[in-house]
Amino acid sequence: MQLTLSGRTAIITGGSLGLGQAMAQAFYQAGARVAIVARRENVLAETKAAIAATEAPIGARIEAFACDVADGGALSRMHDAVVATLGPVDIVVNNAGKAVAKPFEKLTDQDWQDDLDLKLMAAVRLTRLVWPGMVARRWGRVINILNTFAKAPGANTSPTSVTRAAGMALTKVLAGEGAPHNVLVNALLIGLIRSDQIRRQWERSGANQDLETFVAEFGKRLPMGRMGEAGECASTALFLASEAASYVTGCAINMDGGMCPVV
Ligand SMILES: NC(=O)c1ccc[n+]([C@@H]2O[C@H](COP(=O)([O-])OP(=O)(O)OC[C@H]3O[C@@H](n4cnc5c(N)ncnc54)[C@H](OP(=O)(O)O)[C@@H]3O)[C@@H](O)[C@H]2O)c1
Repeated sequence: MQLTLSGRTAIITGGSLGLGQAMAQAFYQAGARVAIVARRENVLAETKAAIAATEAPIGARIEAFACDVADGGALSRMHDAVVATLGPVDIVVNNAGKAVAKPFEKLTDQDWQDDLDLKLMAAVRLTRLVWPGMVARRWGRVINILNTFAKAPGANTSPTSVTRAAGMALTKVLAGEGAPHNVLVNALLIGLIRSDQIRRQWERSGANQDLETFVAEFGKRLPMGRMGEAGECASTALFLASEAASYVTGCAINMDGGMCPVV
């Protein structure tokens, strides 16, 4: 089965690196007009050029938009710019995020607020901007990239676990409200997938071994004996964004190679 996104416009936040970059590439190669969104313009430009250099069907486009998604005003301006450049938005992937986890007593109010603004409110605000158009056109896809901690939190995993659980609740609420309008909302719960985030963890670990060995050693502890690849996440996101997933909504799919103990 060939999955196509021809004629669709997609926004992928955090689209310059890691999972977001892989999803942007997959969507572009499926024929979509893709807006990648992140803060650093130089990284965005490199990723845009790399993706544009790959083969894609006629009509596919890739454009970069610099924006801090934790800033509601900036999100709104970015959305206006995307619509002006690529047309009304059919698909949103709320993916921008970063790993933050500390012992509970070390977390300040600001830590909590920053996590909520980046990982929850950005998704709330961007979805609110695209929602009326999706409802009016009776077609939309919202994909929230979360963390398996949303289902199975553990010690020292806040604020992420709490914010991601809220993201899962948001997914279910929106799926209920979108279903009558053919606006489908799902979440991917990420376990451990090789990305820039993992490279930064390797750097923080002291980089005593090369990155490949670090990734391989980490992977040995996982059920499938390896970390996931960003392209594997992109394949699932492409399915959810496509017509092939036309009866799938309100799901929180573990993208973790069997790591999460909860279905
Ligand atoms: N990789 C994993 O194993 C894993 C595990 C669990 C959950 N996740 C989640 O999956 C998502 C993608 O992770 P990843 O591993 O691909 O991360 P990554 O490699 O670190 O990439 C993060 C992306 O988000 C962008 N970003 C960060 N803060 C932003 C902001 N305030 N505004 C706009 N863009 C922002 C970054 O670009 P700039 O820095 O230039 O803005 C970059 O494009 C994140 O939400 C992460 O929490 C990943």
